[in-house]
Amino acid sequence: MSSAPVKKVPIHLQSSQNRLLIKNGRVVNDDGMEDADVYIEDGIIKQVGRNLIIPGGTRTIDATGKLVMPGGIDPHTHFELEMMGAKSADDFYKGTRAAVAGGTTTVIDFVLPQKGQSLLEAYDNWRKKADGKVCCDYGLHVGVTWWSPSVKKEMEQLVTEQYGVNSFKMFMAYKDAWMLDDYDLYCTFETCAALKALPQVHAENGHIIARNTEKLLAAGVTGPEGHQLSRDEEVEGEAVNRACVIANQAKSPLYIVHMMSKSALESLQNARKRQQMPVYGETLAATVGTDGTHYRNACFRHAAAHVLSPPLRPDPDTPQVMVEALADDCLQTIGSDNCTFHEKDKEIGKGNFSKIPNGVNGVEDRMAILWQKAVNTGVMDPCRFVAVTSSNSAKIFNIWPQKGRIAVNSDADVVVWDPRLERTITAAAHKHAIDFNIFEGQHVVGSPQFVIVNGRVCLDDGDLRVVEGYGKFLKTPSNCPYVYGDELPAVNDRVDAAPQNASGRFTNGTPTPTDLTLVNKHLEGLGISSGCSTPTGRKMREVGQRDLQSSSFSISKEVEGLETKTSVRVRNPPGGKSSGLW
Ligand code: URP
Ligand code: ZN
Ligand code: ZN
Repeated sequence: MSSAPVKKVPIHLQSSQNRLLIKNGRVVNDDGMEDADVYIEDGIIKQVGRNLIIPGGTRTIDATGKLVMPGGIDPHTHFELEMMGAKSADDFYKGTRAAVAGGTTTVIDFVLPQKGQSLLEAYDNWRKKADGKVCCDYGLHVGVTWWSPSVKKEMEQLVTEQYGVNSFKMFMAYKDAWMLDDYDLYCTFETCAALKALPQVHAENGHIIARNTEKLLAAGVTGPEGHQLSRDEEVEGEAVNRACVIANQAKSPLYIVHMMSKSALESLQNARKRQQMPVYGETLAATVGTDGTHYRNACFRHAAAHVLSPPLRPDPDTPQVMVEALADDCLQTIGSDNCTFHEKDKEIGKGNFSKIPNGVNGVEDRMAILWQKAVNTGVMDPCRFVAVTSSNSAKIFNIWPQKGRIAVNSDADVVVWDPRLERTITAAAHKHAIDFNIFEGQHVVGSPQFVIVNGRVCLDDGDLRVVEGYGKFLKTPSNCPYVYGDELPAVNDRVDAAPQNASGRFTNGTPTPTDLTLVNKHLEGLGISSGCSTPTGRKMREVGQRDLQSSSFSISKEVEGLETKTSVRVRNPPGGKSSGLW
């Protein structure tokens, strides 16, 4: 893959980019697949179907044997973040360039103010860092790292149309830095509920971590393994439960970022039984793609490069359990938490693990890693892959169907995915600013061949041609129908009630509930798991139980059937129908 960046090419000079036809592919959305061509003009999907009437001079991409999917949405990145005495190495240019290389066309980064800093000031700083650099569209969550009446006022301002923020992240860890106590968490959740915004939490018990850290250092445990030892699973599980209780008391929905353990999943599953409002769970590419055994590596550079919080778990089953949790709709999204640090910065923590800047790579490899671990193994079908890598984030953060969907009037953020493309992940070939990759040496089958960002071909048959500053800031409106809409069984009403965007250019071509039954019958006949994304009526398994038999999906069968299979469409809520959340 060549990586030569193209600097600020005026859009009007890219005439051949203005009209694009993607032909002969299989279009995959979260609720169904169909053999269809996709015609794009001026950054918008204009037609989806067969036998389209296309203006002359349109560039054609032949997607025979390929899947045509909505560009990935990474709901969790930290570009150019100052934390623990260092600044994350991927800035908004290199970070979004890496994102696009891997098939992600939208990222949502976190504004993280210092304690005492104005949220609006921090937001402005983030916009200044990002606006001229991003290669794809980006949105912003804002961290609430301290609490006061002025913070509440600024949250009210941030959710207005002027700022376009609908989600706030609170920390239950990072004591003496970003951590809030339970009273303040309660207040922030109440404020989010009143503003119809979505609170997010980093769920770990910061007090226990602080005390364990003191004890480990006193006992002479100073290396990276101490990071994991200071915060084992129940420290995460307790915080997930507490966050859910506080959200329930505050009558607030909740989104739990970077869930890393079976204990966390267990707490989430239990809480959901009693929760009045939806609780969503996110895991990370790191969690499904690698594990905590690396903290024991004798090489400090290697071990420290894996340090993030919550930590990777040494339990060998956890990655597989996380994949299954995504497939079963226990978890709704997979992010990257991309927060890379140069080796010299990780070395700040040589001799004291608690000072190692926290963060790993993932924005580039998130989609390929999940495809490899989930689709190639038969745990997840391509529709569910689209749901957890793209559409669910679009729905939860209220940018759907502008983003996260291949449909007329959606933004032309499209990935032509080659399920047969083989490569080995290496730091030498990746696009990140650092020279270490936590997925080093992993062989993956399935990667993007073309990535189209707002109508522009930015990965062109493997050639990366991003444009610095081409992306734009994406406002995320509050009062999301997938978070604050009417409860089930109005699932289908909710889809219909999805807001039109300002220009009113969204149409709703989703099928009726009757179609769903017919489609399930059709799929059963084909020997494919009933329901494309999360099978209807399928009972969620207990955490940790394997059920590889439940999906008879086979990618080779799918690809072979490309020319012959009829269109199938089902519709599920963002988390699939089995969650009972919708
Ligand atoms: O280790 C991590 N996750 N670093 C980024 C900051 C955060 O907590 O998300
Ligand atoms: Zn966090
Ligand atoms: Zn993070």
